[in-house]
Amino acid sequence: MARRKKVYEGKAKILYEGPEPGTLVQYFKDDATAFNAEKRATIEGKGVLNNRLSEFFMTGLNTIGVPTHFIKRINMREQLIRAVEIIPLEVVVRNVAAGSIAKRLGIEEGTPLPRPIIEFYFKDDALGDPLVAEEHILAFGWATQQDLDDMVSLGLRVNDFLSGLFLGVGIKLVDFKIEIGRIWDGDYMRLIVADEISPDSCRLWDIETGQKLDKDVFRRDLGDLADAYTEVARRLGVMPQREPGPTKPTLIN
Ligand code: TMP
Repeated sequence: MARRKKVYEGKAKILYEGPEPGTLVQYFKDDATAFNAEKRATIEGKGVLNNRLSEFFMTGLNTIGVPTHFIKRINMREQLIRAVEIIPLEVVVRNVAAGSIAKRLGIEEGTPLPRPIIEFYFKDDALGDPLVAEEHILAFGWATQQDLDDMVSLGLRVNDFLSGLFLGVGIKLVDFKIEIGRIWDGDYMRLIVADEISPDSCRLWDIETGQKLDKDVFRRDLGDLADAYTEVARRLGVMPQREPGPTKPTLIN
């Protein structure tokens, strides 16, 4: 069988050519990075967990009419997605001050924000993904005003959906990052949610204890990352069983 063509390799995922035009296969690696890849590790089982969790969130979004790139999961580490033109902006939605906004503006972590705050970061590893204003985005042509309006609207809808979902299992959605892509239907263009939604790209705190259940466990050396992600998956009913003992998560289909 001919080897399939790798289209792109990022820090946590690989994209391969898909079986049909306009599709790609997204492979989830076990690699974890933080601080623009200054800190790296391989976390056994992380790719499997994120594949399942991203499937779960994207499927739910598709069901409520928020369009995403997700088509179907293929196996433990791969999913079939629609190929998109990624807009070079990370869309961050925040409900509670944490991470960079806490540091930048001197707000204590855990302070609820008066309303969801949406920020855009320019996707450029060499620059460390800097925070940018709408002025920069429009002036440099990274997106149009219509794109920005659509990205804000998608961000808020994803926020409402995920906040409710997590609240139901005792988790506070502190903030998250999504990426948005363009797809073309003939002459008609629209924006859809792309990339992944997983504990790599969210901040998730247990409502009772405040325990962190997201990638901050790795960024801040707070414990076992796969254990935290497994707990998120278990609560959401995404992975019904886990092997006992020292081995990392095992999926039961
Ligand atoms: P920040 O507080 O570090 O700006 O992160 C905000 C949210 O975005 C948080 O949920 C983690 C997520 N995030 C990513 O998914 N990728 C990144 O490269 C960074 C810096 C943050």
